[in-house]
Amino acid sequence: MRFIIYALLGCVWWDVTTGARRIKLGLGEPNSPETRNAQPVVDYWFQQKLDHFNATDKRTWKQRYQINEQFYKSGGPVFLMIGGEDKMSSKWTNSGAWIEYAGEFNAVCFQLEHRFYGDGHPTEDASTANLVYLSTEQALADLAEFMVGTKATYNISPESKWIAFGGSYSGSLAAWLRMKYPHLVHAAVSSSAPLLAKIDFHEYYKVVEGALSTYKPACVTQIKLANQMLNAIIESDKEIKYINKKFKLCDPLNAKNNKDVSILFETLAGNFAGIVQYNKDNRLSNRTNEITLETLCDIMTNESIASPLEKYAAVNDRMLSSNNLTCTDYVYENTVNILKNISWESPYASSRQWTYQTCTEFGFYQTSNQDEHVFGSKLPVNFFTDMCAEVYGEKFDADLLAKGVDRTNWTYGELNIKETRVVYVHGSVDPWHALGMTRTKTVKTAAIFIVGTAHCANMYPSATTDLPQLTKARATIKAFLTDWLTISDDLDSANQETVRFD
Ligand SMILES: *[C@@H]1O[C@H](CO)[C@@H](O)[C@H](O)[C@H]1NC(C)=O
Ligand SMILES: *[C@@H]1O[C@H](CO)[C@@H](O)[C@H](O)[C@H]1NC(C)=O
Ligand SMILES: *[C@@H]1O[C@H](CO)[C@@H](O)[C@H](O)[C@H]1NC(C)=O
Ligand SMILES: *[C@@H]1O[C@H](CO)[C@@H](O)[C@H](O)[C@H]1NC(C)=O
Ligand SMILES: *[C@@H]1O[C@H](CO)[C@@H](O)[C@H](O)[C@H]1NC(C)=O
Ligand SMILES: *[C@@H]1O[C@H](CO)[C@@H](O)[C@H](O)[C@H]1NC(C)=O
Repeated sequence: MRFIIYALLGCVWWDVTTGARRIKLGLGEPNSPETRNAQPVVDYWFQQKLDHFNATDKRTWKQRYQINEQFYKSGGPVFLMIGGEDKMSSKWTNSGAWIEYAGEFNAVCFQLEHRFYGDGHPTEDASTANLVYLSTEQALADLAEFMVGTKATYNISPESKWIAFGGSYSGSLAAWLRMKYPHLVHAAVSSSAPLLAKIDFHEYYKVVEGALSTYKPACVTQIKLANQMLNAIIESDKEIKYINKKFKLCDPLNAKNNKDVSILFETLAGNFAGIVQYNKDNRLSNRTNEITLETLCDIMTNESIASPLEKYAAVNDRMLSSNNLTCTDYVYENTVNILKNISWESPYASSRQWTYQTCTEFGFYQTSNQDEHVFGSKLPVNFFTDMCAEVYGEKFDADLLAKGVDRTNWTYGELNIKETRVVYVHGSVDPWHALGMTRTKTVKTAAIFIVGTAHCANMYPSATTDLPQLTKARATIKAFLTDWLTISDDLDSANQETVRFD
């Protein structure tokens, strides 16, 4: 089963066994053993409140976290990696740019898994009634309680400065944590974070198109022609058998089922979007077999393949085989059924949970129903909002979503967020930069925009293959951390007299 709806967010890497995205994006082998350190990773459990905002609700659950102390020297800072919308990966506890920084600053590193994703189960199951406890506000309060509790458990000095790290959704949480709990978190590194909640994220495919076009404008022309041909065949409801065969559909297409048609268009567009979003990140240690946007565009512009549609099918073949799949699944009903599964054991539990957050807090729907769209025009916003209602119940309609998205924007201030000591990092190839902070607005926060890199590129371990501008970005982040950890801009309290009126 290949399943991509809502899949294109997190800084996904390494874990190839669970979750929908990995099935889609598990291209090649995990990172090489040399880049990890040999330290075993132990899971610890933090007793956490279920509802931070209801004093009479005494229920608790166990939240999973991990520690890396190998670089810690007494008096060093505390680094906190915020878990995102998927099971926490031990690989992050042992490696990544933040661990390289920890070596420079003698930091102790904690990684905390996000509620409802992964091994910590706050409720009996993930029923819609229970998902009421899944929100950014609860997640931020978890982080705050965790910091306070951990200081006590591990005897961390009150003077120790905490730095939050996160990428993608958890990058947004890193910035919001600094804003909401500035007395607990001294600074944050927020990578590829969408700060603006938006229902209709039509910019997404525009960035994908731009990235493909920068490599080869003809690639985009061919994709557009292919989608027009596909659309014409489906609308005329003739030669559907050709589509079934060419695109290796698992079930014969019913051209009259609009939802199936939408998912088919999305799946084929996702072949490109998934590759662009993660283009040449450092997930893979051996890039020989890595599929890049160049690989796909070379197929789209290969003149020995007869038509644009055949080229589009050849790209799909390439993606199927790299994922060890024999056919393309596009059936709407299957998708809805998967998302309806409330079991923690469901391999798509994270997709259900993340979809819930999109239906209640963010939107982020990657639509394509604008004029002259490169990837066809079959993904209007109501395709996604209808799905919210189908999966979670009638209450979850477009109005609820609009209010939820509005609430997210006014709660955190979207791109007008007021905070200090946050560095925002984005890559030009990453579609999510369109919703992020890409301009430095004040002297106390900074934005770094890296031309040519994809989603969360700066978070991966540095490698000899890194673009020079990525190397520079990592050094600049380190320079900010140096400033923030060494220079205090608080007043020296000993020299300040209270202004007192008797
Ligand atoms: C708060 O928790 C109590 C005890 O579980 C429950 O009876 C009550 O309904 C909750 N209130 C709200 C507003 O959720
Ligand atoms: C990378 O993989 C290819 C093909 O699987 C192999 O031939 C090559 O030796 C590998 N390179 C390294 C550096 O491991
Ligand atoms: C173009 O496609 C043909 C047929 O699939 C293949 O043999 C050839 O290697 C491709 N050319 C390039 C440049 O990829
Ligand atoms: C595909 O199968 C091969 C051979 O069994 C395996 O090495 C590879 O990891 C698989 N790839 C994925 C994405 O599952
Ligand atoms: C939900 O997923 C679990 C674990 O994969 C599976 O055992 C169960 O049958 C699924 N439930 C439904 C209703 O499909
Ligand atoms: C935040 O979301 C609301 C609701 O969709 C929208 O009206 C508002 O314009 C958004 N804020 C910004 C700055 O776009």
